[in-house]
Amino acid sequence: MLNFDFYNPTQILFGKGRIADLNKAIPAEAHVLMLYGGGSIKQNGVYDEVIAALGTRKVTEFTGIEPNPSYETLMKAVDLIKQNKIDFLLAVGGGSVIDGTKFIAAAALFEGGDPWAIMEKRGSNVTKAMPFGSVLTLPATGSEMNNGGVVTRKSIKAKMAFSSRHCFPQFSVLDPTKTFTLPVRQIGNGAVDAFVHVMEQYLTYPVNSPVQDRFAEGLLLTLIEEGPKALANPEDYDVRANLMWCATMALNGMISTGVPQDWATHMIGHELTALHNIDHAQTLAIVLPSMLRVRKEGKRAKLLQFAERVWGLHDGDEDSRIETAISRMQDYFEQMGVKTRLSDYQLGSDDIAPILSALETHRMVGLGEKRDVTLDVSRQVLELSL
Ligand code: NZQ
Ligand code: ZN
Repeated sequence: MLNFDFYNPTQILFGKGRIADLNKAIPAEAHVLMLYGGGSIKQNGVYDEVIAALGTRKVTEFTGIEPNPSYETLMKAVDLIKQNKIDFLLAVGGGSVIDGTKFIAAAALFEGGDPWAIMEKRGSNVTKAMPFGSVLTLPATGSEMNNGGVVTRKSIKAKMAFSSRHCFPQFSVLDPTKTFTLPVRQIGNGAVDAFVHVMEQYLTYPVNSPVQDRFAEGLLLTLIEEGPKALANPEDYDVRANLMWCATMALNGMISTGVPQDWATHMIGHELTALHNIDHAQTLAIVLPSMLRVRKEGKRAKLLQFAERVWGLHDGDEDSRIETAISRMQDYFEQMGVKTRLSDYQLGSDDIAPILSALETHRMVGLGEKRDVTLDVSRQVLELSL
């Protein structure tokens, strides 16, 4: 096992009816800035429950944080904070709202000029951030219990990730009943995003880490079992509860302790979203199957373990077990309603060069757990995904 540092201060308030506990989690005298997205929380009752829980606190609202939150929108919230005396930020929504709030929390106190520098330095220049919490409505990203965020600057088509130990939510409320209203597309996206998060941390090379491996395999098996049930029975509480906790555990730092990590699929996926506005999870479903096929040799031992322990494949030669495991995974993404080919999103071979040049601009030229995913490897992956 590799050396590691594990730190996660986020308190999780899990279960039905827990939004009411915001009253205990947020200081009584705080002036709260409540941040949310395009309005789904007004249709499913979350908004009303949050307002009721905040009671007599002074509340200001910032609405309109879009999927794949933009720097342009988020900076408007930073201005609002500078004009008002806000003490606490409350993100109410999916990963985009929570990520956006993390950026705002850091940008509002940033002293190094234009806060876009936070993204350019991937968060290493963040020295403080405003306190914030979240109410999660879409299990997918793990943002509710990690310190990372992804922000897009529309004017230059750049989608970049940052992280900082100052950007953990103080708490997150996870009420599975609030996910009942998710559209089918977002249920599928959530399961696939969580699945790929686990794979980025698990499917590398062995370092003798059985705890992390079995934890990761348990999360994958749960996603495979529960994901289709959520599509079939959207209001099954237990299914939603298991999916919600699974997505959180997939990216809260637990399974990445002491193991190598990949993340090449995510980095290529971010370029696909920035250039073509494809949903985050859709980009991952396009890239990961080909990524594993192209890098089969470097990942052979873990691919065989994945085939055996996750898909129960014991027979046949190594290459056929590996291919069957990757195909089963791809079928699972499709079963969750997430298409897995570039052509499914009307993209073709002419679209590959601009993706590669965006990767180059963003210095994504040595990706993966061994830093050997060069632009040429990324090209092979994209060609195989056509
Ligand atoms: O904006 P509203 O109206 O709220 O609608 C949202 C949005 O349109 C809707 N939605 C959310 N909860 C709902 C609901 N609709 C009905 N009922 C509910 N309960 O769903 C749509 C998508 O929301 P969004 O927040 O964009 O989705 P997601 O949670 O998948 O977040 C995606 C973003 O997270 C980043 C992605 O890159 C992307 O920008 N990621 C963040 C990570 C992190 N912080 O660790 C890691 C991930 O790999 C990912 O990169
Ligand atoms: Zn992701």
